[in-house]
Amino acid sequence: MVVDFVIMTPALEVRDVVKRFGDITAVDHLTLSVERGTCFGLLGPNGAGKSTTMRMLTGQAVATSGTISVLGLDVPREGKRARARMGVVPQIDNLDLQLTCRANLWAWAAMYRIPREKRQAAVDRALEIASLGDRSNSVAEDLSGGMRRRLLIARGLIHSPELVLLDEPTVGLDPQVRAELWSLIDQLRSEGVTIVMSTHYIEEAERLADDVAIMNHGRLVAQGAPETLLAAHAGVQAAEFYGSPSRLRQIENAASAAGLSTRRTGPSISVLRAESVPPSFFDEFDDHVLRASNLEDVFVLLTGEGLE
Ligand SMILES: Nc1ncnc2c1ncn2[C@@H]1O[C@H](COP(=O)(O)OP(=O)(O)OP(=O)(O)O)[C@@H](O)[C@H]1O
Ligand SMILES: [Mg+2]
Repeated sequence: MVVDFVIMTPALEVRDVVKRFGDITAVDHLTLSVERGTCFGLLGPNGAGKSTTMRMLTGQAVATSGTISVLGLDVPREGKRARARMGVVPQIDNLDLQLTCRANLWAWAAMYRIPREKRQAAVDRALEIASLGDRSNSVAEDLSGGMRRRLLIARGLIHSPELVLLDEPTVGLDPQVRAELWSLIDQLRSEGVTIVMSTHYIEEAERLADDVAIMNHGRLVAQGAPETLLAAHAGVQAAEFYGSPSRLRQIENAASAAGLSTRRTGPSISVLRAESVPPSFFDEFDDHVLRASNLEDVFVLLTGEGLE
């Protein structure tokens, strides 16, 4: 019975959590649930409350109100026990810069009470995950930004945690290393590890996450599987138009008059739900490119703001 209970408990349950810093409400009545063995993406612009949410999950920050349960344990009350079973990769690099890669990992392995006889193997495995085997004796200060990030990620995995919290894990990584990290996340998930990651990268959330929570100003804007959110809010395709600012304005006005949703995407304008746009609209403006809808379209449609 006990085993059944453990298996059925979600990896994470956040209920009606509020976090205030003085006048700022960083997290505003947030409710989330993450199933075990899934990858959950927290998506939102700067200041949305992603890192604050992550920090409350580890007990580094304490909620003003609401309840948090991690792996069936109440946080912060049972935070220490919960932390022993989760791996944390913070947004801001807190490596010991004076120590070598190996020593950084060794210190972490000791802190997580990996038995002495298993520490060496755990450190070697982490160096391999970080692809830093040949830099094991370099001090962290001398690593490139991307290498430090890899070391930070490997350090968070050193004790084979059941739940991994990754706060903006791929910022500063080159595309190849980012792709390697995506496969690592996929592999961890296939081993039954639960992943919670925050990200600015829409593509990352769409590719990796089984479920996403889209946050803005501390509030949950939408939650669900990426494909469900796309189908519900943004449809299948967007038509993207390029041209001079005056032309883009003209298209925007025409779309608005026809009751169509649009959004600015850098130098272009996207007319959303292109599949249901009346063909007559495209008679007038036919030089467009069709692209698949994405989660940023969902975000813009629901908030009227951009993710960047
Ligand atoms: N320790 C703190 N003291 C005061 N305000 C804070 C503190 N930590 C976070 N905040 C505020 O809470 C809000 C949410 O910040 P948070 O770091 O959670 O956002 P985020 O979604 O992680 O953003 P980013 O994408 O820039 O990392 C911001 O307005 C921020 O200034
Ligand atoms: Mg953050």
